[in-house]
Amino acid sequence: KENKLWGGRFQESVTDAVERFTESISFDKALYKHDIMGSRAHASMLAKQGLMSISDKDSILEGLDEIERRIENGEFVWRTDREDVHMNIEAALTDMIGEPAKKLHTARSRNDQVLTDFRLWCRDAIDSIIKRIKYLQVALVTLALENKGLIVPGYTHLQRAQPVLLQHLLLAYVEQLERDAGRLLDCRARLNFCPLGACALAGTGLPIDRFMTSEALGFTAPMSNSIDAVSDRDFVLEFLSANSITAIHLSRLGEEWVLWASEEFGFITPSDSVSTGSSIMPQKKNPDPMELVRGKSARVVGDLVTLLTLCKGLPLAYNRDLQEDKEPVFDSVKTILGMLEVSAEFAQNITFNQERIKNALPAGHLDATTLADYLVKKGVPFRTSHDIVGRSVALCVSKNCQLKDLSMDEMRSIDPVFDTDVYEFLGVENAVEKFCSYGSTGSACVADQLSYWMAKLEIS
Ligand code: ARG
Repeated sequence: KENKLWGGRFQESVTDAVERFTESISFDKALYKHDIMGSRAHASMLAKQGLMSISDKDSILEGLDEIERRIENGEFVWRTDREDVHMNIEAALTDMIGEPAKKLHTARSRNDQVLTDFRLWCRDAIDSIIKRIKYLQVALVTLALENKGLIVPGYTHLQRAQPVLLQHLLLAYVEQLERDAGRLLDCRARLNFCPLGACALAGTGLPIDRFMTSEALGFTAPMSNSIDAVSDRDFVLEFLSANSITAIHLSRLGEEWVLWASEEFGFITPSDSVSTGSSIMPQKKNPDPMELVRGKSARVVGDLVTLLTLCKGLPLAYNRDLQEDKEPVFDSVKTILGMLEVSAEFAQNITFNQERIKNALPAGHLDATTLADYLVKKGVPFRTSHDIVGRSVALCVSKNCQLKDLSMDEMRSIDPVFDTDVYEFLGVENAVEKFCSYGSTGSACVADQLSYWMAKLEIS
């Protein structure tokens, strides 16, 4: 058996079970690119500070290039007995270039190394997620543009409430996604500080330059407390919290579209390319992708809960438990990227059943609130007008008709304040147009919102 990089004080090697149980190479090899980036910056700094010769640094940099090439070509052999990505790369470098490689770990511990890698990895992951969020926003705005003027029932308690423009409703999701991206950007700014040089926990007595490595790796500044630097996982908790909120938004979107695709709603027809069938019922066409968007949000929340629970009882500083922080993060990122991608594809592959929606609009007295506003404009106190309209709706229910079908006499029998101009307020088309407060569903407001998003998302 090969001597471990930390093997000096040991007489015996670990058992196979311990080796299998404690390894992280099976998953942390995903950090290889960032590990190599960190080592390049570290070696350059050591040379500049006179802690390593220029020629040693050059052979380290060449060796790291070669290792990166081998990893990317699938030629690199990852070894479980070398435990994790950091020691696999360092030991392979030593195999390759010999003595100079032994200087690379000067003034560095795996504790600050792993966090440097992980922060760099999360930073890139955040950038990828934000790109996908924007892609979904574009798909939703495009869908809105394709369905100009379409009125749909708006719901509260899943009961018909008020008429809204479909565009308005779709833009509600676009707004949520914008805040999701904003939370990720906040998290990115807060995590972008460099732990490298914190070493095991106390820093070092060697003359390193932490500002140089921090800058070379694109961090804002080195972290100012070495103990904090190797202990902190709140950047991960914040990242997974942001992902969880995004996942919940997508789950709600998924639920809405699954409902809309049902026979009972029948608002949308997903194309075959985003639907799947049943192994027994030949007629079935199911919206599985959006059901799985809803379902996979559970994983993303679970990943956050795993991390919260992991950190709960840990004293300062590094504890090996923290090795368990990687897989939930990798899972969360992979899952959220998939959820965003599939939601965008679904949005690109649904048709709104305009006729069916139109035919369904008269049900539910969606114009009742607009009628109450009409009475307010006539000087009736709102509570009184609520009551008058309530009695008008009751009359409609007993006659099985809509508010706009009531005659002038019938309305006046409820309250004499009604006048013939009332009919301009009735029916969903009239009702929706009456909305004009800032941010409301009236067509002028929605047109403003739509042009804002088209400009922001660069849609022409
Ligand atoms: N693989 C370890 C992790 O992911 C690296 C740090 C190990 N440090 C140690 N002292 N054992 O956390």
